[in-house]
Amino acid sequence: MSAIESVMQEHRVFPPPESFAKSAAISGMDAYRALCEEAERDYEGFWARHAREQLVWAKPFTKVLNESNAPFYKWFEDGQLNASYNCLERNLENGNADKVAIVFEADDGTVTRVTYRELHARVCQLANGLKALGIGKGDRVVIYMPMSIEGVCAMQACARIGATHSVVFGGFSAKSLQERLVDVGAVALLTADEQMRGGKALPLKAIADEALALGGCEAVKHVVVYRRTGGKVNWVEGRDRWLDEVCAGQPETCEAEPVDAEHPLFVLYTSGSTGKPKGVQHSTGGYLLWALMTMKWTFDIKPDDLYWCTADIGWVTGHTYIAYGPLAAGATQLMFEGIPTYPNAGRFWDMIARHKVSVFYTAPTAIRSLIKAAEADQAVHPKQYDLSSLRLLGTVGEPINPEAWMWYHENIGRGRCPIVDTFWQTETGGHMITPLPGATPLVPGSCTLPLPGIMAAVVDETGQDVPNGSGGILVVKRPWPAMIRTIWGDPERFRKSYFPAELGGKLYLAGDGAVRDKETGYFTIMGRIDDVLNVSGHRMGTMEIESALVANPIVAEAAVVGRPDDTTGEAICAFVVLKRARPNDEEAVQIANELRNWVAKEIGPIAKPKDIRFGDNLPKTRSGKIMRRLLRSLAKNEEITQDTSTLENPAILEQLRQAK
Ligand code: PRX
Repeated sequence: MSAIESVMQEHRVFPPPESFAKSAAISGMDAYRALCEEAERDYEGFWARHAREQLVWAKPFTKVLNESNAPFYKWFEDGQLNASYNCLERNLENGNADKVAIVFEADDGTVTRVTYRELHARVCQLANGLKALGIGKGDRVVIYMPMSIEGVCAMQACARIGATHSVVFGGFSAKSLQERLVDVGAVALLTADEQMRGGKALPLKAIADEALALGGCEAVKHVVVYRRTGGKVNWVEGRDRWLDEVCAGQPETCEAEPVDAEHPLFVLYTSGSTGKPKGVQHSTGGYLLWALMTMKWTFDIKPDDLYWCTADIGWVTGHTYIAYGPLAAGATQLMFEGIPTYPNAGRFWDMIARHKVSVFYTAPTAIRSLIKAAEADQAVHPKQYDLSSLRLLGTVGEPINPEAWMWYHENIGRGRCPIVDTFWQTETGGHMITPLPGATPLVPGSCTLPLPGIMAAVVDETGQDVPNGSGGILVVKRPWPAMIRTIWGDPERFRKSYFPAELGGKLYLAGDGAVRDKETGYFTIMGRIDDVLNVSGHRMGTMEIESALVANPIVAEAAVVGRPDDTTGEAICAFVVLKRARPNDEEAVQIANELRNWVAKEIGPIAKPKDIRFGDNLPKTRSGKIMRRLLRSLAKNEEITQDTSTLENPAILEQLRQAK
C-alpha cells in the first residue's frame, strides 16, 4: 500500500455561495462539526434521534444498535415500519398529495406526470395484483424493467407487501439475469415487452424468456409484463401476464405491511473480486433512514426543487436516489428513459432547461463524454441552453478528474452551483464521503469529508491509521444504519470480503485506496485496490469477465485488467490464450470481435473488453501465478520497469506488447 501516494496537487478552493449556505439544511462548517461531535459523543443516541425524527414507525424501536453478532449488525431491530408507507402515505398526509412526484420523459420526448396521490394508487393496485398472484412477505421478486414510472411502482409495490426485490439492470444478458433469478430464489419476474433507448427497441421480454429457459428458475411462477412499446412477444400461458391486467380492477388502496426494521428491503447484485456477483442485502429501517437523511443533507432538497438523478433503477443510485430517497423526502423528480446522446448530445442540457431542473446528479463518465461532444459540436454546447434553474450539481460512481470538475462547474453550474462529489457504494446504501453544499469548501477531485455519523478513515494493511498525506486503505470504523447486512446466501463471504481478519475483523473494508490531505483532512479516492474495475461508473470484476471468456470453447486462458480511459474512466483489457495457435493480425481482429460479442451475451454489453490481445501464454511466476501488474503496464503501453526476475517466461512480455 505504501505504493499509493497522493498524486493530486489541487489548490483551488470553492467555498459555498453565501446565499446557498444561508438556507441550507446544514449551514456552515460549524453546523457540520456540531453534528459530527454529537455522533462521536453519543453514537447510538445520534442515530436514534434521527430515526425517530425522520421515519414513521408502525411500532417504535427501543433498541438502537445490536453488535452482539458482529459483523452482522442490527439496527432498530425491535421496530417495525414499511418503506413504501414512508414514501407514499406520508406524502398524502402532509399536504403533498397533489404535488407531482415524478415527471417522466420518455426516449422520444413524451412527458408524463404523476402526483403522489396517483403514484400511491398505482403502487397499491400493483401491490394488490401481486398479492392476488400469491406473492407476499418474504418472497423475492426480480425486476428487469426499463426506466419507467412502472419500474418505480414495481419496487414500491414489493416493499409495500414485504416482498424483497432484486432489480437487474436492463443491459444485463439472459445468462446474468438467470444467475440472479436462481441465486435470489425469485418467485416472480417483472419485466417489459421492450425497452426504448436512443431510438432503438431492446427486447427485454425475449431476454427474460431466454433466461428462464436456461433452467434452474423453476421457482419463478409468474412473469408480469409491462406493455412499453406494444412490440411482439412470446407468451407462456399460465405463467405470463400483462402488468395492466394484473392491476385492472384492483383497489387503489393496499395497506402497507409493517416489517421488522431489519427485514430485507432488497438484494442488489454487484461485482466483487471473485467470479460470482454478490447479492448485497439491505435492510428496511436503516437503509430508508439514510436515503432520506442524505436527500436532505447532501442534496439539500427543498419543496420547490426539481431534482434529477440520471442513474438507472438497475443500480444502487437508482434505488436510493430515485425509487426511495426522493419519494421519502416528498420531492418532485425528473426521470428519464433514454440516453444522453439521443437525439443529440445536448439532451441533458435541453431537459434541464425545459423542465427547470434545480438539482442535477450524474456520473463523471457522462460529463466527460458530453465535454467531448460539446467541443466537437458547438450546437450541443451547454452555453446554448438556459441552465439558470440549476442550484446544485452532483457526481457519483467514480473519481471525477479536476478538469472535468472545472468544466462541470463553469459550463453547467455557471460558477454558481456547488458540486457534491459523492463517494459511496452499493454496499453503503447511501452517500458516505461528500461535501455538504451549504458548508464544505470544495476542492476539485476530492469528495472532501465523511457525513456526520460516518467514521471513515485511511489505514495500512494491519488496520492502523496512516497519517494524513499518506495513501492507504479506506475503511469505516463503526457500523452505520444503511450498511449492507450480508451477502444473500453467503454470510461467510460477507464477513471475509468486508470485515477481513487481517484488519482486525472490525473495520468495514470499502475496497478503495484513499489519501487524506495533510492540512484539511479531505479524502481523495484513488480507485479500487481489489480486482474490481470501474468502467463508466459500473463495477465489474476482472474475474467475472475472465470466467466469461474462458467459458468460450476456443479460449484456453484469459486475464483481464483495467487501463485508464479518458471517457469511461477505466477500459477493460483482456489478454487471451486460445486453444489453437495464436492468430495472425487479420484473424485476431475477427476473433476479438467474436469474443466481445460472446462476453456481451455472457454478462452484458457493458462488460465487452475494449482491447483484446492474443498470446501463446500469459506472464506467470514459477508457481503459476499470473503477474497482473505486468499486464497492467502492458495494457497502458508502458515500459516495464518492474522486477521480472520471478517470471517463468519473460519472452512472453515482448510478444504481448506487440500484439495489438
Ligand atoms: O471505487 C468507488 C467508486 O465506485 C465504487 C462503488 O461502485 P458501486 O457499488 O457500483 O456504486 C456506485 C454508485 C454509488 C467505489 O468503491 N466510486 C463511487 N463514487 C465515487 C467513487 N470513486 C470516487 N469518487 C466517487 N464519488
